[in-house]
Amino acid sequence: MAVLPIVRMGTPSLAERSVEVTEFACQALYDIIQDLKDSLVAYSGAGIAAPQVGINQRIVLFGFDHNPRYPQEKPVPFTVLINPVITVLTEETVDAWEGCLSLPGLRGKVPRYTKIHYSGFNEEGEKIDRIAEGFHARVVQHECDHLDGILYPQRIVDMRDFGFEDILWERLYGVPYQSKR
Ligand code: NI
Repeated sequence: MAVLPIVRMGTPSLAERSVEVTEFACQALYDIIQDLKDSLVAYSGAGIAAPQVGINQRIVLFGFDHNPRYPQEKPVPFTVLINPVITVLTEETVDAWEGCLSLPGLRGKVPRYTKIHYSGFNEEGEKIDRIAEGFHARVVQHECDHLDGILYPQRIVDMRDFGFEDILWERLYGVPYQSKR
């Protein structure tokens, strides 16, 4: 299939609410999922949301064993999640640095809930029902925000915690820039 170009911040469609998927187990949906998979892999994303490739439908993909953009994070199960619903299971939040394929080269520190329940459907229309914590919960919250037109800078509490990855390097990875593993 195809690696699609990423829609970047500032494009009006990224700020819109995406629409629910109404037809499952059909070729049109399979084609979208395949393009999203190809794009996720090609760009080394931790996750991707359909509006990031110009498709304003409520579809997200996420998951990896090891991700070069988030080298310190534990694996997240590869998941196709359609029409997701998140329920927060704690009021506790944790701050961590996030990036986004739609904001290349940038990172920001964002609070996210530490424990959530999420549900939705895969491309076959089968129900997905999970509890997630840590980075897994963070990725789901980040990707699902895209479906409501929200990008992570809108979640940053202190804008001094927003900037370019190479400049922030030492704060992000604890080692000076240039010693990228
Ligand atoms: Ni993103």
